[in-house]
Amino acid sequence: MKESVQEIIQQLVHSVDFQSSKFQLAIICTMFNPIFWNIVARIEYHTHSLTKMCGGAKKGCYMLAATIFSLGIIRDMIYESALREQSTCSLITGGNWTKLGVALFVVGQVLVLSSMYKLGITGTYLGDYFGILMDERVTGFPFNVSDNPMYQGSTLSFLGMALYKGKPAGLVVSALVYFMYKIALRWEEPFTAMIYANRDKAKKNV
Ligand SMILES: *[C@@H]1O[C@H](CO)[C@@H](O)[C@H](O)[C@H]1NC(C)=O
Repeated sequence: MKESVQEIIQQLVHSVDFQSSKFQLAIICTMFNPIFWNIVARIEYHTHSLTKMCGGAKKGCYMLAATIFSLGIIRDMIYESALREQSTCSLITGGNWTKLGVALFVVGQVLVLSSMYKLGITGTYLGDYFGILMDERVTGFPFNVSDNPMYQGSTLSFLGMALYKGKPAGLVVSALVYFMYKIALRWEEPFTAMIYANRDKAKKNV
């Protein structure tokens, strides 16, 4: 190999304009979204404020779903727009990188959309915090190929876009998405498990 790993990383990092305000905004949105929905969901669980405000658990959950969905669209638009003004790097441009980018993006979208299809709106958007629980664990594709198809698919889509455009700045955002989802899962999984454990306990006492 001509270049060492360190040189490759240096070259990639040099291609990133960290000073760009759009890039910084993309970073902020990426961090904000999972923090936002986790905090709102926890508040809902403890106070039922969205349920009260919207006149029902299902309505509250739809309201939150629409908000999270819109925030996601805004974040994706800012990400794309931020990448447009970043430089490409010859290390990740060229036909094969473009193809890999498209493939990862498509796989990511398939994971996201198929898990949404399987879970439904309330299953996808934190319905359990509203007391809307799934009757049983969803199995089958995409849950037989991925532990968290929503998060893993989203991360792959970010990465795919970065490679498709050949922009190292996209790799930085993708890494951050990966990291944020990892933290979010560490926070969400035990809480969701607790909600379902309580339901099962309540069922036994009936
Ligand atoms: C996952 O499930 C689908 C059907 O829902 C099946 O076609 C596919 O082969 C399964 N994949 C794995 C890796 O088990």
